[in-house]
Amino acid sequence: MSRNTKSCCSRWADRGTALLLAACLALSLGGCAPQEGERETLRLGVAVYSQDDTFIASITQELERMVQEAEVARGRKINISVVDGANNQTTQMEQIDRFLDRGYDVLLVNIVDRTAAAVLIDKAEAAGVPVIFFNRQPVAEDIDYRERVYYVGARAEESGALQGQLVLDAWRDQRMGLDRNGDGVLQYVMLEGEPGHQDSLLRTEYSVKTLTDAGVAVEKLASDAANWNRGQAAAKMSQWLEEFGDGIEVIFSNNDDMALGAIDAIRAWGGPSLLVVGVDATAPALEAVATGELYGTILNDGRGIARAMLDLALTLADGGDPGQAVELEDGHYVWLPGRRIDWSNLDEFLEE
Ligand code: GAL
Ligand code: CA
Repeated sequence: MSRNTKSCCSRWADRGTALLLAACLALSLGGCAPQEGERETLRLGVAVYSQDDTFIASITQELERMVQEAEVARGRKINISVVDGANNQTTQMEQIDRFLDRGYDVLLVNIVDRTAAAVLIDKAEAAGVPVIFFNRQPVAEDIDYRERVYYVGARAEESGALQGQLVLDAWRDQRMGLDRNGDGVLQYVMLEGEPGHQDSLLRTEYSVKTLTDAGVAVEKLASDAANWNRGQAAAKMSQWLEEFGDGIEVIFSNNDDMALGAIDAIRAWGGPSLLVVGVDATAPALEAVATGELYGTILNDGRGIARAMLDLALTLADGGDPGQAVELEDGHYVWLPGRRIDWSNLDEFLEE
């Protein structure tokens, strides 16, 4: 019996039943034994910019769940270690160094500072370890010309444009209710994520561009960064409500947590309900769509991101062809499509 087959069987046998041992013997003829070239335990190092971020936490939860399933399906131990960079690039780099020192097989990186990718890639490359970036997209020069470096995420322009379409349709269908001052112009405020983040820059740009391209006249009353954060967004929104009151006709938010913060502020203010749109489709945001407080949101497919990363990581670790594991664009990118969500199709997303 080969070394790998033995380890597979002893794990089954630990569970202590003759039945399982028999099952293992049968499996050792085929399915249970790792293929040639596979190591016994695969180690995936996941470094996130912040675990306090609702959307990022949902991705790591999905990953951990999927890893457990993959272990059973593949009969192979997969060790996944998730570390929190606490929004500090120096901390994250030390965590990456530790993963490399300990011989991790693949790095999955949600980089704190997207301009710091080159240094990180150099280190991984020197150690012969592939890197999969996700959600926080490094600049193209750092990804496109490297071997075994990938990015998995959603297109920022797309989620912005889809958010703009939600508002465009509302403007067309409910013009009387939305254009409260009757001037034919849509007055809005914009809650932005982190400065410099591709999702802040492009969602902000494309949400409004979708309206102006369709010939809607818009007026920005205010915009500011609230760093994806519910509390910061609530504070900003309170100021704007004091300043503009129900002169605000639409509240664009670059993500759901900030949209929920805006809703917190609107509740405390006690005026009429205002139209708020977010991005992510987190569980609390979907609940707010159900109660009507959040007009709509855009699917940011965290489950899809986790699935693609794991498929890619397992293939890379085994020296396989990544193009066979996932749909790769330009040899380096996996893009997960967004979808618009409002009360009319909410059920499809609540059931998941
Ligand atoms: C965005 C997401 C935000 C936040 C951010 C972190 O895609 O919409 O909620 O998670 O990523 O990088
Ligand atoms: Ca108006």
